[in-house]
Amino acid sequence: MMGMRDHDVGLLLPFLLLLISVASSQSQGCPQRCDCTARLKAVSCFGKRLAALPDGIPADTRVLDLRGNRLRWVERGDLLPFPRLEKLDLSDNVISVLEPSAFSSLQNLQALSLRGNQLKLVPMGAFSGLTNLTSLDLSGNKIVILLDFTFQDLKSLKNLEVGDNDLVYISNKAFLGLVGLRELTIERCNLTSISSQSLSFLHNLVSLRLRYLSISALEDQNFRKLGNLRGLEIDHWPFLEHISPHCLQGLNLSWLSIKHTNISSVPTSALRSLAHLTSLDLSFNPIAVLESWALRDLVRLKELHLVSTKLAVVQPYALGGLRQIRLLNLSGNSLVTLEESAFQSVNTLETLRLDGNPLNCDCRLLWILQRRKTLNFDGASPVCVTPVEVQQQALNAFSDSALFDHFTCQKPKIRNRKLQQVSAREGQVVSFSCRAEGEPAPLIFWISPQRRRITTKSNGRLTVLPEGTLEIRYAQVMDSGTYICIASNAGGNDTYFATLTVSGLPLDATLMANRTYYVGDLNDTNLNDTRVFLKFTLDLKTILISTAMGCIMFLGVVLFCFILLFVWSRGRGQHKNNFSVEYSFRKVDGPAASGGQGGARKFNMKMI
Ligand SMILES: *[C@@H]1O[C@H](CO)[C@@H](O)[C@H](O)[C@H]1NC(C)=O
Ligand SMILES: *[C@@H]1O[C@H](CO)[C@@H](O)[C@H](O)[C@H]1NC(C)=O
Ligand SMILES: *[C@@H]1O[C@H](CO)[C@@H](O)[C@H](O)[C@H]1NC(C)=O
Ligand SMILES: *[C@@H]1O[C@H](CO)[C@@H](O)[C@H](O)[C@H]1NC(C)=O
Ligand SMILES: *[C@@H]1O[C@H](CO)[C@@H](O)[C@H](O)[C@H]1NC(C)=O
Ligand SMILES: *[C@@H]1O[C@H](CO)[C@@H](O)[C@H](O)[C@H]1NC(C)=O
Ligand SMILES: *[C@@H]1O[C@H](CO)[C@@H](O)[C@H](O)[C@H]1NC(C)=O
Ligand SMILES: *[C@@H]1O[C@H](CO)[C@@H](O)[C@H](O)[C@H]1NC(C)=O
Ligand SMILES: *[C@@H]1O[C@H](CO)[C@@H](O)[C@H](O)[C@H]1NC(C)=O
Repeated sequence: MMGMRDHDVGLLLPFLLLLISVASSQSQGCPQRCDCTARLKAVSCFGKRLAALPDGIPADTRVLDLRGNRLRWVERGDLLPFPRLEKLDLSDNVISVLEPSAFSSLQNLQALSLRGNQLKLVPMGAFSGLTNLTSLDLSGNKIVILLDFTFQDLKSLKNLEVGDNDLVYISNKAFLGLVGLRELTIERCNLTSISSQSLSFLHNLVSLRLRYLSISALEDQNFRKLGNLRGLEIDHWPFLEHISPHCLQGLNLSWLSIKHTNISSVPTSALRSLAHLTSLDLSFNPIAVLESWALRDLVRLKELHLVSTKLAVVQPYALGGLRQIRLLNLSGNSLVTLEESAFQSVNTLETLRLDGNPLNCDCRLLWILQRRKTLNFDGASPVCVTPVEVQQQALNAFSDSALFDHFTCQKPKIRNRKLQQVSAREGQVVSFSCRAEGEPAPLIFWISPQRRRITTKSNGRLTVLPEGTLEIRYAQVMDSGTYICIASNAGGNDTYFATLTVSGLPLDATLMANRTYYVGDLNDTNLNDTRVFLKFTLDLKTILISTAMGCIMFLGVVLFCFILLFVWSRGRGQHKNNFSVEYSFRKVDGPAASGGQGGARKFNMKMI
């Protein structure tokens, strides 16, 4: 029996409470069609097709929800009776006109939303007197321009949303007075620039989100004076290609996100000043290569996201300098591998996303495999794509024993190890071949006698051709010495030597035979001097024949001249026994001619 009575009381109690609360709310009044919560002093008239403020709103109302009605304007008189309002939501109406001082009686207002209305212009003074306002939402209107002093009384405002308008211009002093603003979002506008001057009033801004804008470049000092900014988001700027090296100067960010833009490399120099950055997101940009030391100055970085950037290469030391990296998200890229050499140290790494990449499971991924039980793959383990024996296998599913059967590399081996010893003449092109086999395909570079590293990227006289051949153009005496070819891959390296002796002018006919010379009219802009070269090939036979021909011709001409002179002098009756013939001997047969050394030679002949 006792239990039954308890049960009855338990049923009755909420009912009684309900009665009391209904009575109390009726005693203070509640507009028809609206719902009131007396305890919170809240009135909700959401979606009631109201064309004007309903009658009967209690004077002590603190929260007024008028979302989704048909209100057209807001006048000062409408809101005068409710000085205690703290929260006013006017979103999704058709308000197109705000009267100056419309809200000035609402000294206690903290949150005002005008989202999704038809506002084209916010008149000066519309928000005057709202000194306690902390949140203002103007997004989803048709505002074209933000005028000077629009927000000047809003000294407590912390959060401002002006996104999704038709904004084309933000006047330089529009944000003047927003000394308390901590968060600002500007999105989906036709803005083509955001002046550093308009942002410069926001001394206390902590996070700035700029989304869906048509801005194509970030200029120097775009964000200067935002010394308290901790987070900057740049998202969906399809035209952004240029990030000036100094555009982030003056900022001290903790997180930075530049996503869905058209930048094709990591903006290394712009990031230089961000020594306190802990999180960087560069996802969805066309960044194909993460270069060595690209993030070197981000000494406190803990999270790096480069998702779906078509990333194909992570160079050695690409993450060099990142001593605290914990999370690396490289999901959805074109990476064949990720070598341990990319990291300063992999020991700090806790979470790694490498799924969605065409991974080649060789020794380069062994470091991941060894950590597969402790590393967090965020629910998406990397999967082998090659070689075929392990295709589609997830890295975290390999057993310890299978490990060394598959994750192997083959040390490079240089083929055709015949010692190459070449003597050449200045100006000549010399090449040394160096081909190597290995798995993965070895990288080939050369070391010069001066200990300089020559790679396929070297672009002076000395370069390495794609298949590994060292090419020395316009050989010079100082190029002489021993060259070392190094073929290296993750499995190890192999070396090989070649020696070159370059002799200067004059020409040694036996050496020059059968080689290519640059002599004559081939311009070469790489060359500093104005020598003109002609390219042709010679062999020994040609030289001998042309020399012989030259001699015969020479003797013929001399003989002819001699006869002519003889006849002429006889005809004149002169008897001169001694005369000289000057003949300019031009060597047609050799590169030495270019130096003009052939010169003129004098021949003295005596008449008999
Ligand atoms: C509103 O501002 C006034 C002074 O401007 C201050 O005295 C009052 O405490 C504030 N009210 C709230 C709710 O912050
Ligand atoms: C930008 O302007 C064009 C017309 O100039 C308009 O069609 C488009 O909707 C505008 N975009 C935004 C986000 O306002
Ligand atoms: C992005 O850059 C590429 C090449 O740099 C260019 O072809 C393309 O038109 C750019 N896209 C946009 C939206 O500007
Ligand atoms: C930069 O911000 C960090 C906190 O993120 C702070 O410890 C540091 O003092 C700030 N540096 C400067 C120069 O303001
Ligand atoms: C990595 O990026 C993917 C794709 O954006 C995302 O879904 C995932 O949450 C990210 N993982 C981590 C740990 O940040
Ligand atoms: C070649 O390999 C040896 C050990 O196998 C290593 O000590 C050396 O540093 C490597 N050299 C290069 C240039 O990679
Ligand atoms: C000259 O070069 C040709 C190929 O260019 C080669 O077959 C020939 O053996 C060379 N002759 C001499 C003497 O080096
Ligand atoms: C050689 O250089 C001159 C100018 O220095 C230039 O006008 C000419 O086109 C060049 N010829 C060749 C074949 O590059
Ligand atoms: C080009 O020649 C000038 C004078 O002959 C010299 O001062 C200069 O250093 C040379 N430049 C190069 C790149 O060799």
